[in-house]
Amino acid sequence: AALVVAIDGPSGSGKSSVAKEAARRLGAAYLDTGAMYRAVTWHCLDAGTDLDDADAVAQAVRAAELEISTDPSLERVRIHGTDVTETIRLPFVSEAVSAVATNLDVREEMVRRQRALIAAQPRIVAEGRDITTVVAPDAKTRILLTASEEARLRRRGIQLGEADAAALQRQVIERDAKDSTVSNFTRASDGVITLDSSDLTFEQTVQAVLTLVDE
Ligand code: CDP
Repeated sequence: AALVVAIDGPSGSGKSSVAKEAARRLGAAYLDTGAMYRAVTWHCLDAGTDLDDADAVAQAVRAAELEISTDPSLERVRIHGTDVTETIRLPFVSEAVSAVATNLDVREEMVRRQRALIAAQPRIVAEGRDITTVVAPDAKTRILLTASEEARLRRRGIQLGEADAAALQRQVIERDAKDSTVSNFTRASDGVITLDSSDLTFEQTVQAVLTLVDE
């Protein structure tokens, strides 16, 4: 791709909505790599794969027929022809995803597919946990989008409209802790620009990203 914008960040940093809007304004494609991890996790659960069996999980993921839309205005994920766009956002998937995403063979397979999807687009904004470091370390712009824990929990709560805020907060903190064992997205690596959105509005954050892309 001629233009690659890589955005990493923890849960609730606002990276998905910010990356999507930045992609629209740049006339670029958009890749939600978290949706890919969620989809293969759903597939393993659906197929009854034992999540503790690392080899079985890796095998199921390698064989998975995964289709993901890269249109920032059309969210669609299919696995083996089943539309899982909505299902992969449900709590039972969120709770299982870290177990699948920490499998190194799974990550290798996902990274390979993500690089191919990025290469197929002339312009793309890709977002996740390891895009700036592993998937697209040569991206033109690499951003670590952060936010204070307070801001992240507040945004998660608003986004999901969840009643039991305390349980949700625990869930987000636990998932971040599990995720950070494989990809250290809490600190920017060399050449990656940290953008703290705690005190920025959505529009200000999008503008900041576009300024960093500076075409
Ligand atoms: O819900 P949230 O936006 O926090 O997460 P997501 O972007 O949908 O990603 C879901 C999960 O996929 C994360 O909790 C990670 O376990 C995993 N993931 C990953 O390991 N590497 C990526 N590049 C993207 C997501």
